[in-house]
Amino acid sequence: MKRSAVFLSILSAMLLSASACSIRAGGDAKTAFSDGSSKYEQAIPDNITEPYLPSKDLLSSKNSRDTESSSPDEYSSPESQQTVSDEDSYSDSSDYVVISYNSNEPEPSYYESSEPEPSYYESSEPEPSYPESSDPEQSYPESSYEDVSEPFEESSSEQSEEESSMPDIPADNTDMTEIKPMLDSFTLIMNEDINADGYIIQYSKNRSFSPENTVTVSTTETTFTADNLQQGEEFFVRYCSYKSFGHKNTYSDWSSTGYVKLREMTTVDGVTYIDGVLIVNKTYSLPADYGSGLTDKTITAFNEMVSAAAEDGITLWIVSGFRSYETQRNTYSYFVSDRGVEQADRASARPGHSEHQTGLAIDVNTTSDYFANTPEAEWLKENCYKYGFIIRYPEGKEEITGYKYEPWHIRFVGEGKAEKITKSGLTLEEYYGITSKYQEQ
Ligand code: DAL
Ligand code: ZN
Repeated sequence: MKRSAVFLSILSAMLLSASACSIRAGGDAKTAFSDGSSKYEQAIPDNITEPYLPSKDLLSSKNSRDTESSSPDEYSSPESQQTVSDEDSYSDSSDYVVISYNSNEPEPSYYESSEPEPSYYESSEPEPSYPESSDPEQSYPESSYEDVSEPFEESSSEQSEEESSMPDIPADNTDMTEIKPMLDSFTLIMNEDINADGYIIQYSKNRSFSPENTVTVSTTETTFTADNLQQGEEFFVRYCSYKSFGHKNTYSDWSSTGYVKLREMTTVDGVTYIDGVLIVNKTYSLPADYGSGLTDKTITAFNEMVSAAAEDGITLWIVSGFRSYETQRNTYSYFVSDRGVEQADRASARPGHSEHQTGLAIDVNTTSDYFANTPEAEWLKENCYKYGFIIRYPEGKEEITGYKYEPWHIRFVGEGKAEKITKSGLTLEEYYGITSKYQEQ
């Protein structure tokens, strides 16, 4: 569920009077922040190290795909109509990324302290788990809060340099979460801290985190969407949780710093692409002279799928593949004459707006509603993504796609994207955050 940035807080002090996720003040020793500058110096106990700084864990190989080129590829760009190349190159260049907690950073843990517990643990209130933990690896989410009472500290360039020497996140880190890019927003799905009263999210274009790019979500909602952004923008993201103890807040460690690049929409010769995927729906049209048949890749993928289906005793065939602008005009006109414009628009695209004009869409076996729930339809729904297709107009999504359920209409997007889109349970419109509406609607 999309949430807008809740309480953009320059952290008025009540809630975050302090430097979010920084360290506890009040001890005897003076310890500088890791940028080494005295301006960040603050009093902390000797035995307590500062919180983890964002590591240079730009998501290692697992996430670096987001930084790959998003230019249209041969499957969907005009040039692609003549070119066939490695199908894997079509796979996601910019899908979900993950970030993780720094729990494996080689920093001493707060809970390695032999000092008396911070004052908030002395409360007479029952605090079942926070004081008990002594295992740094287990310190989040149950018990890694740190008491913070200093003002928020802004990152500095010196800090960034120091960060660069920090290790990447371990490849086997299992404490993961996601950042989902859209065109003008991204959604961060945080790991739940069952003890938290809320979360603090920071996102910045240059890894310099400051109050200006800090948002406090004062609920236990673990999904956060940053919106009103520009497509293609890149952000570094981190978060922590907080818990209120009376007038004080305590904070978990920061998560690792994640990276996200927003999706980009481009138009080439009147054809719209998002991250290289050709988009056609009620909002986005195609030039009348676009396309000349099913693309080679679509045909190859379909044939592979037919063979695999046959091994399962399922017979699949094409009842409608490529349709020219003229053919689509006739098709749509037939629907209008048969049932009127309103009902026609639920089942047939207006000329210029049909995926069949792309050479990437196929109607399988029949276009009758009776196809739904047949063994063939079930097989298609379960397996078509393996061959690079998605069920383009799923059941119950008419308000989003603009069309009634069409269990027979598959759209080639390439194997990587087909798997991700299918497993996300989202329509193409939802996956990319776009509409499907005719202009006059
Ligand atoms: N039946 C689909 C929506 C089309 O006409 O393209
Ligand atoms: Zn179709």
